[in-house]
Amino acid sequence: MDKFLIWGGEQLKGETPTSGSKNAVLPILAASLLAETPSTIVNCPWLKDVDTMVEILDAMGVRVQRTFEGTLSIDPGPLASHEAPYDLVRKMRASIYVLGALLGRFGKATVSIPGGCVIGPRPIDLHLKGFAELGATIEQRCGYIFAEAPELVGREIFLGGPQGSSVGATANVLMAAVKARGTTRITSAACEPEVVDLANFLNRMGAKVSDAGSPTITVEGVSELHGVEGYEVIPDRIEAGTFMTAAAVTHGDVTVTGAEPAHLQSVIAKLSEAGVKIEMHNGDIHVDATGDVGPVDVVTQTYPGFPTDLQAQFMAVATLADGLSRVVDKIYPNRYMHVMEYARLGANITMDANSAIVRGVEHLSGAPIMASDLRASAGLVLAGLAAEGETTVLRVYHIDRGYEDIEEKLARLGAKIKRVKSN
Ligand code: EPZ
Repeated sequence: MDKFLIWGGEQLKGETPTSGSKNAVLPILAASLLAETPSTIVNCPWLKDVDTMVEILDAMGVRVQRTFEGTLSIDPGPLASHEAPYDLVRKMRASIYVLGALLGRFGKATVSIPGGCVIGPRPIDLHLKGFAELGATIEQRCGYIFAEAPELVGREIFLGGPQGSSVGATANVLMAAVKARGTTRITSAACEPEVVDLANFLNRMGAKVSDAGSPTITVEGVSELHGVEGYEVIPDRIEAGTFMTAAAVTHGDVTVTGAEPAHLQSVIAKLSEAGVKIEMHNGDIHVDATGDVGPVDVVTQTYPGFPTDLQAQFMAVATLADGLSRVVDKIYPNRYMHVMEYARLGANITMDANSAIVRGVEHLSGAPIMASDLRASAGLVLAGLAAEGETTVLRVYHIDRGYEDIEEKLARLGAKIKRVKSN
């Protein structure tokens, strides 16, 4: 298990590129199963989670090849199985995306039920409700979901849950609906850019999806889809936001290149509120945090609200801001595992029900800390970059799931960070 050694106190400076979006490419890889002909995806980030999706496709008989840097070719022609086993699904919840794709392709799917998750309960009831409403029979036994539909039939499907819309349920149901007979209308659909990217990919495959990005998505079912040559995945807004926040926490001056500023409006607004100067030029976002960084209240919401996947990183900024910040996660009300780790660095955070009250301190001081999930680990690395002395971040395999070359990218901005193998 690798760990990071970080010697904090360096102001990050320079330019850093944005990789392709993890949360966009995972459903797109699953969607490629809907065709019998190959697809190629460009700007595909090379991440542990992408490896896991590739392993799942491979286990089902799909031929996947990384042809050259960032390009992945998927040939679903030899797809022989409609089953995704526990051994692979347990590694990554997004494996559940193959359920919608297999249902759309074969009218049949057997997928292991994803297990627990450290960021809180993550049910899949909305996914299953959507499939059932399209006409699938769903059975859960022995840790597996058995879904079967001799014919999928389009209809109106409401996908609102207790926390609002669901990204995963919207994407999954969309993948089944593109092959359903007739018209499907998904209401209370997730509006996240990753859903729009999936819809764009499906349309390039020959699907008829309209109004993705709005709360009502309409799908006219088609009987056949084909592979897509050279589909370019959108830039990763969470990676870009993480580097913008890294600039803020180190009082740095960083330009994030190749991003999509339109996807980062809430993040830009919150950093500006904290006193960080932000300028945009095409896909470049220049973040100048060399002045004072003030406190900021953050409430996570569905898109276009502030993303839960940047909550931990923003809390790192708040730990050193001049004043009192409040951070509330409305999407995952228990996503606060990083709070105790920040406290080990000297942060002053108290929990009030499901809100974190963060009183900015003068300094954090380096200590060993432990990553608990992907985004929390990004937050811990950011806090380590700002802390005085040496910070060790343990269990960085979490970060490898979703950040491409993070330590190289940070080092190029002047961070003192080193990966070491640990037992
Ligand atoms: C996606 O997860 C992302 N994962 C998550 O990113 C992200 O945090 C999340 O969306 C919210 O933006 C991928 O895209 C692979 P949801 P997903 O369904 O689709 C509840 C990361 O670090 N819900 O939008 O699983 C659920 O419990 C990861 O990259 C139900 O109640 O999230 C949550 O409170 C972590 N029933 C809320 O909806 C359901 O059937 C939103 O979840 C489904 C979800």
